[in-house]
Amino acid sequence: MSSVTDFLLNRASEPRLEAPAPGTAILEKAFAAASRAPDHALLRPWRYLVIEGEGLNALGELFAAAHTDSNEKKLEKARKKALRAPMVIVGIASPRPHRKVPESEQLLSAGASMSFLGLALQDAGYGVMWRTGDVAYHPTVLEGLGLKAGESVTGFLYTGTVSSRKPIVPRPEVADFVTRWPE
Ligand SMILES: Cc1cc2nc3c(=O)[nH]c(=O)nc-3n(C[C@H](O)[C@H](O)[C@H](O)COP(=O)(O)O)c2cc1C
Repeated sequence: MSSVTDFLLNRASEPRLEAPAPGTAILEKAFAAASRAPDHALLRPWRYLVIEGEGLNALGELFAAAHTDSNEKKLEKARKKALRAPMVIVGIASPRPHRKVPESEQLLSAGASMSFLGLALQDAGYGVMWRTGDVAYHPTVLEGLGLKAGESVTGFLYTGTVSSRKPIVPRPEVADFVTRWPE
C-alpha cells in the first residue's frame, strides 16, 4: 500500500505540545488539505479560527467564563486548558439548508475536514490533539468565538511541536468492527 496508508497506520494524537507552532505556509497548505474533505453538493460547511499568542489567554478566559463554579482553582485550571499548545485551531461546522444534503451529512463533512487538517499538520511534522469537552458546547464560549446561529464547534485542534510522545494506544482488531454482509 502507499505511504499514505503507512502514515495513517503510524499516526497518533499527541497531547504534549510546545512552541514552535506551525508557520503560515504550513497552515495555508494544511487548510487547503482540509478543504479537500468529501463534501456533498460542495457546500463547504466548515470554517476555522486560528488562535495563538495573546488570543490563547482570551480563549482561556472564555473557558473560565463557561464555568458555573466560581472556585478560583477551578477557574485557573479552565484558563490553563487553552495554553496546552502554542496554537489552537477552532473547527466550526457551518451547515446550511439544502434540499438534498441534511445537516447530519454536513457535520460529517466538517468532521472529515478537521481530520484532514490534523493529518496535514502531522504530515508536516507537528503534533495535534483534537479536543472538545463541555466548553465546545457552552453558549458563552460559542458567543465569544463569534459563532452564528446554526453553527457548532467541531473541536479545538491543539497543535505545536511534540515535546514528548504519549504511550502507545492499543488499536482495535479489524475483525472486531468489520464484517461481510450478507454473512
Ligand atoms: C470530536 C472529538 C472530540 C474529542 N475530544 C477529546 C477531549 O475533549 N479530550 C481528549 O482527551 N480527547 C478527545 N478526543 C480524542 C483525541 O483526539 C484522540 O483521538 C484520542 O486521544 C485517541 O488518540 P489517537 O488519535 O492517537 O488514537 C476527541 C476526538 C474527537 C474525534
